[in-house]
Amino acid sequence: MIDTHLLQQSFASRFGGEAAVFFAPGRINLIGEHTDYNGGFVFPGAVTQGISAAIRPNGKPTVNLYAADLGRACSFEPTDDEGPSDTHFRYVYGVVRELKAAGVEVQGFDAVYGGDVPLGAGMSSSAALESCFAYALCDLFGGHLDRMTLARIGQATEHKYVGVKCGIMDQFASMHAREGALMRLDCRSGQFEYFPWHPDGYRLVLVNSCVKHELVGSPYNERRASCERVAALAGVDTLRDCTLEKLSSLHSKLSAQDYRRARYVLGEVERVIAVGDALGRGDYEEVGRQMYLTHEGLSRDYEVSCPELDFLVDEARRLGVSGARLMGGGFGGCTVNLVRNERYDVFLEEMQRTYRARFGVACQPIPVVIGDGARRLF
Ligand code: GLA
Repeated sequence: MIDTHLLQQSFASRFGGEAAVFFAPGRINLIGEHTDYNGGFVFPGAVTQGISAAIRPNGKPTVNLYAADLGRACSFEPTDDEGPSDTHFRYVYGVVRELKAAGVEVQGFDAVYGGDVPLGAGMSSSAALESCFAYALCDLFGGHLDRMTLARIGQATEHKYVGVKCGIMDQFASMHAREGALMRLDCRSGQFEYFPWHPDGYRLVLVNSCVKHELVGSPYNERRASCERVAALAGVDTLRDCTLEKLSSLHSKLSAQDYRRARYVLGEVERVIAVGDALGRGDYEEVGRQMYLTHEGLSRDYEVSCPELDFLVDEARRLGVSGARLMGGGFGGCTVNLVRNERYDVFLEEMQRTYRARFGVACQPIPVVIGDGARRLF
């Protein structure tokens, strides 16, 4: 979390006086990738990095935003149907519009915000931004929407105002997370449970490839379209309701690419269930084994990896890491690694050395601390 006093100072110098301060986090995901929009399971938790915002209603018809990290400002009126053209500000504009559509009387406000989720690392800085404003504006303008509804407002913002047809995982995690716990969400029913995450003898660490991951205008939507084509052919609402037998029976009617993508998704739904069971037994080696299988599927069948991420996962295996895989949408960003304590230091040291030798740039380790979800700080 960034220094919220600096944020308040910045608010005071720009708008004068004081404001309420809110925070919403980015997320990790242990396993269950590209399963959310297929009605499957995901296993996320929040990180302690996120977006913080100082916000105060201004009694006028205008919203005034200042993105401290970017040094950029923007103003718009919630009643304006076009909204800002700068994608960054469309996240906030979309949240405002969707809250109003859900019956929250959002009026003009002033806000200064910033964060410490590395951008393009696949840790969902955009969901953190949406969740922070959705939670804050609902609170400040007297709305009574529950956290799942607020998460859906963030997701709708991605769909309608940014153009990414994402699932619900990131916004769900940012809204519902609890310190020290991962969550298993059934994306078909919306039901979820908390799993205390205290892996005795192990640590979770992300390694940022520093290849910028960007889902806007990326092949992310194409992956989703493949899944929807296969589901339609199989006569089910989402791939979660398809079986491997059914998929095999459709083999000749599908492109090789759609077939491989659907095969990955069906395997991943099973792996999340296997990981839930393994966690119940405290079997972290099995959790790690499933993580490697996920990476293979994401790389070969779903084709959302890149040479840098494949290298990081291969190196993790060589260095005796229990489990590693690319995390999030793919096309860059981070790997998530489950590492036994005694291997941790050597892993990070060696990994950084070999990555630089291979690609000529640094990768960035990010130790994971599991934090709380969206909230008002003061
Ligand atoms: C992005 C999306 C999520 C999810 C992941 C892949 O983070 O926002 O909804 O689909 O990719 O698991």
